[in-house]
Amino acid sequence: MRVSLRVSGWVPRWITVIVVLAGPGRAAEPVVAYTITNGSEITISLTGVPGDAARGRALYGGEARAGCPACHGVPGAAGAAASTPDLAGVGGRLSAGAIRLWIVAPVAIDPEAAMPAFYAAEQRDGADDPLYGGPALTAAEIEDLVAYLAALRDPG
Ligand code: HEC
Repeated sequence: MRVSLRVSGWVPRWITVIVVLAGPGRAAEPVVAYTITNGSEITISLTGVPGDAARGRALYGGEARAGCPACHGVPGAAGAAASTPDLAGVGGRLSAGAIRLWIVAPVAIDPEAAMPAFYAAEQRDGADDPLYGGPALTAAEIEDLVAYLAALRDPG
């Protein structure tokens, strides 16, 4: 038996519209709600799942947008900035939840903190930024950084 399938014109056009609207990087990512525990931690993953340490490492060291090495240096590498905490071994000193809160909102831990927050609404301001109007880092990027840093146990 031969089945002939005729796709009418609107079907492919409709699929294209879905892909354009829902594809990655098209719209500002809203800041998801989070709870600070004891003024020191966000114990629950912002995405609900663990991050990827390898992606976090690449983001930390290779992406100007995160900018962590400008202040902290690269953990384990020579020449870490002297004026800011060296993050070597940070996973042995701080819980994953505390590391998460440091990246999301440092002033929640220390009102005098010099470190910028990386997870507030409307931080992106370049019209060419696909996540224009969203937070500096996405929830998934923060979880990747948490996974990377929480695994650093060697104080160097
Ligand atoms: C402008 C400089 C600056 C940048 C950029 C920066 N930090 Fe920080 N960070 C600090 C300072 C300074 C502190 C110490 C507390 C304070 O005064 O803010 C700190 C503290 C921390 C701590 C707590 C360390 C400890 O041992 O208690 C973590 C974790 C951390 N930062 C992670 C990051 C990550 C991850 C990034 C990149 C997404 C980043 N920081 C970007 C300046 C910075």
